[in-house]
Amino acid sequence: MRLSLVGTGYVGLVTGACLANLGHTVFCIDIDQEKIANLKRGKVPFYEPGLENLVQHNQQAKRLFFSTSLQEIISKVEIIIIAVGTPSLADGRADLRFVWQVVEEISKNIKSYKIIVTKSTVPVGTNAEIIKRIKKKYKGEFDIVSCPEFLREGSAIADFTHPDRIIIGVSSTKAKKIIAELFANLSGEKLFTTLASAELIKYAANAFLATKISFINEIAHLCERAGADVEEVAYGLGLDHRVGKSFLKAGIGWGGSCFPKDVRALKQIAGSHGYNFQLLQAVIKVNQHQREHFVNKVKNYFKNLRNRRLAIFGLAFKANTDDIRESAAIEIIQKLLKLKAKLDVFDYQAQKNAQKILQDAVTYYDDVYECAKDNEAILLLTEWSQFRDLDWRKIKTLLKRPVIFDGRNLLNPKHLREIGFKYFAIGRP
Ligand code: UGA
Repeated sequence: MRLSLVGTGYVGLVTGACLANLGHTVFCIDIDQEKIANLKRGKVPFYEPGLENLVQHNQQAKRLFFSTSLQEIISKVEIIIIAVGTPSLADGRADLRFVWQVVEEISKNIKSYKIIVTKSTVPVGTNAEIIKRIKKKYKGEFDIVSCPEFLREGSAIADFTHPDRIIIGVSSTKAKKIIAELFANLSGEKLFTTLASAELIKYAANAFLATKISFINEIAHLCERAGADVEEVAYGLGLDHRVGKSFLKAGIGWGGSCFPKDVRALKQIAGSHGYNFQLLQAVIKVNQHQREHFVNKVKNYFKNLRNRRLAIFGLAFKANTDDIRESAAIEIIQKLLKLKAKLDVFDYQAQKNAQKILQDAVTYYDDVYECAKDNEAILLLTEWSQFRDLDWRKIKTLLKRPVIFDGRNLLNPKHLREIGFKYFAIGRP
């Protein structure tokens, strides 16, 4: 099939490259000329494991193309997938500016039957509004499909290839058949719903996962007071298949470009329908508290953080990405800087992005051992698995004091204490 992906961010580019890899002919569109010029040369603008290879492979196979003009491409495709960002407005609402720009562009250039698929996360009712806006300018036949995405950064290609489910909000039988064919080679249940249900499933999924994490973080507080170990509690809890093991990792709280914005947006959507979604308010509050609690732990240990030299391991909002959007690590760093701590920082991928925000307020290291040198503690803030395999004996000799605050419960407490570290984690005795 021939299709166009509008927006070459994480969602658009991964989806485009993966659909091309399924054998479809895909045109990825973005208004950013530099980005498109780089993509034409096979250069991906962000870090996502396996993506650059996949892009290059499908370009060589003449299935994946890049352009800055939807107008030029629209007549060549039968499906247009909207995958532009929907960031948060100040009041928590989703900012649909980029979606409307694409819809406007489609309305102006559509001349024959197309299926327009919304992959961007949009509030309930947006797809119905898209239909209205296109109908104002175009009197011919078209269909709208809501197909939310569930890819995680860092494992996006695997998530695309082996989805738990594919949600397809659609009312027309013609579009239903074509979209089912588009995803025919993917496993996972294909669930056909109304547009509104599909829109809400996406928000409900992200908000539920964020709730799960905030819940286990609350349990972690109780563990610290009651002398239990949250790792054992989470494991025991997750063995119940009704609960499930995933998204029960206690830590410094959830961040990223999706959970924070989608939880806020769902709360706001509920409010706009006259419903006060009280639980989400608590979920957000617990998440904010998690970061403050971690900083307080460090502060209480040292009494005063002024001029304390601390090494930060991890800047990204999670492992296997260079993304620092709403990263708990960055927020914790900003709080520590306010308390006048001196920070040496290291991350496997996110340093360049962090530099744009933190500038020269911290010192950056390309070598994790150099970063540790002469510091009074290590604060581990991103769950990069590589941290687990470091030579911790060597690190102990480099540090001024052998102290670790593990904000992700990543390391082995027993091993570190045996070496002689003072080891503090989240919700562990
Ligand atoms: C999330 C969803 O998991 C995807 O299904 C969805 O498609 C995506 O948002 C989106 O809406 O685009 P992502 O933001 O890439 O994916 O990251 P997650 O792996 O979900 O992690 C989110 C945050 O929760 C990270 O800060 C992570 O460190 C934290 N987390 C995750 C925990 O603190 N504990 C856990 O057990 C799991």
